[in-house]
Amino acid sequence: MWRQAGFLADAFAVFKEHNYSVDLISTSESTVTITLDPESAVDADGSRFIRFIDDLSGLCQVEVKTDCVSISMVGNAIRTILGKLSSALDLFQDRHVHLVTQSANDLNLTLVVDSEHADSLVRKLHQTLISSQADNRAEFGPSWSEMNRTAGTARGSPEWWHARAPDLLEILGQRECAYVYDLNIIRKAAQRLNALRTVHRVLYSVKANDHPRILQVMAQEGLGFECVSIAEVEHVLETVPGGQPAEILFTPNFAPREEYEKAFQAGVRVTVDNSWVLREWHGLFTHKELFLRLDLESGHGHHRKVITSGKESKFGISLEHLGELSDHLQKHDIRVTGLHAHTGSGVTDVSVWQEQLRRLLAVLPRFPAVKVLNLGGGLGVPDRPEQSRLDLAELDKLLHASLGEAEIQLWLEPGRYLVANSGVLLARVTQLKDKGNYHYVGIATGMNSLIRPALYGSYHDIVNLSRLDSPSTVPCRIVGPICESGDVLGESRLLPPTCEGDVLLIANTGAYGRVMASHYNRRIPAEELFLAS
Ligand code: LLP
Repeated sequence: MWRQAGFLADAFAVFKEHNYSVDLISTSESTVTITLDPESAVDADGSRFIRFIDDLSGLCQVEVKTDCVSISMVGNAIRTILGKLSSALDLFQDRHVHLVTQSANDLNLTLVVDSEHADSLVRKLHQTLISSQADNRAEFGPSWSEMNRTAGTARGSPEWWHARAPDLLEILGQRECAYVYDLNIIRKAAQRLNALRTVHRVLYSVKANDHPRILQVMAQEGLGFECVSIAEVEHVLETVPGGQPAEILFTPNFAPREEYEKAFQAGVRVTVDNSWVLREWHGLFTHKELFLRLDLESGHGHHRKVITSGKESKFGISLEHLGELSDHLQKHDIRVTGLHAHTGSGVTDVSVWQEQLRRLLAVLPRFPAVKVLNLGGGLGVPDRPEQSRLDLAELDKLLHASLGEAEIQLWLEPGRYLVANSGVLLARVTQLKDKGNYHYVGIATGMNSLIRPALYGSYHDIVNLSRLDSPSTVPCRIVGPICESGDVLGESRLLPPTCEGDVLLIANTGAYGRVMASHYNRRIPAEELFLAS
């Protein structure tokens, strides 16, 4: 072909003569690689194809490869994000790629590989480009399911706040932003957990949301409290009428010695998660009862920063230290009455707690005084409308199967499950801007009120509450007013055409929302309000 004018014309004349339409093409100085759609290439007895190859062989050396598949990444202006596709292209590293083309209309990038690799490559590409792309969503746009659903509709039925839209707008009044909670949602979640027949006690993990009204509802529903700082312990004792120390489990990690002293003085139950503490401060623990938090070696969670078990985590006592620890406990008359394990937060696979239970039961013989196995919290809630809810009935069944006849109480200490769905963050639209590839919708509060999207890439559903019934057609990047490029609350979200003053609703923000807020930039985080029930 090198400098031979008309070679391609001659070759394509043969395609035309035999009525073959070219699908993909790439060329070099000496080689032309072409794909034909198998449906057009195959004829009943193969004779047309043989004649075609014969004729083509008069012009060049022909090699036919069958059993190939073309895999296309399809998207608008794909050339502009080639750099972002590097992780996807890495997947092809060990595969024989026969051809790469980037379509002239800039709508797809296609690679042709042997068909045996196609399924696994497509699965991995999907995982790399779509499922795990919380941070990259700006480039990849809304997902198909997001584009095809009605705003705020989860798993087929509307979210609770749909019906309460007028109440929510009314309670916000003239404010720029606010967290608004519905306590009934919390009550129902607490009742679902209390109905688990294998679980003897549910403690509310106060860190998820420590608003006094929420703590009071937990107490009314008969839940205890799990606290991770002495300040949380004091807060519960002060704000829950009739709050008893016996209802509180103190589960600190790398806390100063005086917090343990105060906890014992207050009469709350203490969990220790470091054998160093028991050795170095043994005077503090002699003749005491306590729970031990163990690291059962496998961690789970919605993000690596919330996995609290396993080699990389700072929590818990390693199983390998239990031998020497037992001797020490005996020597100082420290009675272990409970074992505790918490693998991480935002877990959706119920078999994780069964596995925890299994592993705790395996170490139980070392601790004859143990009456309680605390399986921790971590119960996940669906972030995206297409995700399903945690199957509590299945959890109950699995725990029951593993517990058998063991004379032991099972405890859980969830935070998120109880409160996440009860809260929404409302914020008024401040400004709009079109810049680069984005249509920006600015709102009155951002990562100072809700840091989860910036910190974990967390997904929170976002709708325009002022225009709930208008079709969501405009892809938007929803940002706050904080001086950080990471102050993005939602990437590539579809909203109706939106105006200054509209109220956006950010869903599922009852857990780890206001409690993780800051005054960064001296901006006051959203205050907390409650719907009348
Ligand atoms: N128990 C212990 C010992 C914990 O460390 C935690 C959470 C819980 C219970 C309650 O976990 P939950 O049921 O809420 O998943 N800020 C993160 C979550 C960090 C959770 C830390 N520990 C987030 O926004 O996702």
